[in-house]
Amino acid sequence: MKKRIFSGAEPGRIIDDIRPLLEFEGEGLSLKELRRLIDKALVPHLSDYGLPSFHSAFNAFPEEGAELGTAVALRFNQGVTNWHVSPGGAVLEEACGRALCRLFGFPGTADATFMYCGTYANQQALYMALHRKAERAGFDLAEKGIRGFPEPEKLVVAVSEQAHFSVRHAVRMLGLGEESLLRIPVDRNQRVDAEILSEVLGTTGVKDNIFCAVLTAGTTSTGAVDPIRPMIDSADRAATWIHVDGAYGLAYALVPEYASLFEGFTEADSVTWDPHKQLGVPIPNSVLFVRNGEEFRRMAIYGEYFNRKDDPHPNPGLKSAPSTRPMAALAVSASLRHLGKEGTVERLRSPLRAIKEFAAALKNAPGVELCHEPDTGILCLRLRPPGFPEERTDDLQSHIHDRLQAEGKRSVSLTRIGDRAALRFVAVSPAATAGAMLETVAEARALAAAYPNRP
Ligand SMILES: Cc1ncc(COP(=O)(O)O)c(C=O)c1O
Repeated sequence: MKKRIFSGAEPGRIIDDIRPLLEFEGEGLSLKELRRLIDKALVPHLSDYGLPSFHSAFNAFPEEGAELGTAVALRFNQGVTNWHVSPGGAVLEEACGRALCRLFGFPGTADATFMYCGTYANQQALYMALHRKAERAGFDLAEKGIRGFPEPEKLVVAVSEQAHFSVRHAVRMLGLGEESLLRIPVDRNQRVDAEILSEVLGTTGVKDNIFCAVLTAGTTSTGAVDPIRPMIDSADRAATWIHVDGAYGLAYALVPEYASLFEGFTEADSVTWDPHKQLGVPIPNSVLFVRNGEEFRRMAIYGEYFNRKDDPHPNPGLKSAPSTRPMAALAVSASLRHLGKEGTVERLRSPLRAIKEFAAALKNAPGVELCHEPDTGILCLRLRPPGFPEERTDDLQSHIHDRLQAEGKRSVSLTRIGDRAALRFVAVSPAATAGAMLETVAEARALAAAYPNRP
């Protein structure tokens, strides 16, 4: 019997099991009893990311160095937004951010802040972009808000139609609404169409309203890396802030044979990265880089009791909104120091290799349609047995996904590429192998063979 990724239970059964954990008005439990309760009630329902048959999401069990760093951070429960609360934590956060800038090759002016998640990093990047646009228009966005723009309805963010939905959240939260998104189509390989975006970024009358262009370095759906260099070269850099969303993909820029795909990202105005995705750093752990550290002053709000304007000490909380954040920098530093540069690159390379082998093995396989060439660690495909009707193929992908999920032994995700459903295989952890993904395809084929080709 193969190990399950999770119990396979439905929500109702999980609620029943965890009920004793939620009896907040009951008597206290000893730590031993509590441990036993958690192990019994909850743990079976959690996902086991360490199994090679888990290939549906950007999650992995913690890397050992990162786990150690997180344990220390937890033991001291440090908040790190200011010197006053944690001198060592504040200095570590500042210095780690700059060391990460150097690791990725950003210029000497660059700086970074830790964030709770990629979603908030993208949101902050768009805020800073809009803040700069306001500055050019002669007012302070922090004071006046979007009311300061004579025609706020004209403000535009140019973005690929494959961008992560956090960009939609960002424009909603900025009060611009989703109508401010100018969605650019993608090419056959799911990268933003460079010709169309360059044209848009260069068109008088249009370009002046685009305050930010978002490129994705590793899209959520297919792992495609948008062409960064051509956009950097074609945008009016003073008017248009270029943000690179590398929440999922950026770390792969550290793998030498993949570096050229990402060329130009160090020249973007801001870049999002989630070490909690492919590096196995415990959740939450995200970073926002800016090419010019001065841009962070757009976030600063000074306090009376801490983050004072006249405080000569480092106060990382002036670079992002939360006034409490965990010591996330220790987990990243500990992981990178544990693995060393070569070990880190090898860890990152392993799922990339697995996806390449997986794609090569399926290239001419009958009944399998590959939806794209993998840029990074994701491959989307459609199973369609010979003679199976096209109009039922979307239903078939959903059926396969739902059945595998319900069995709980293998996990693959479902996505849409254009207007078609596809199965999405994600390799993130070093546990992912081409062999395990091919086994999942074999099971999926068996499910496909048994699926009626008529409703
Ligand atoms: C490309 C991309 N950007 C942003 C995000 C959001 O990151 P987070 O889940 O850390 O909020 C994701 C999450 O999958 C992503 O894939």
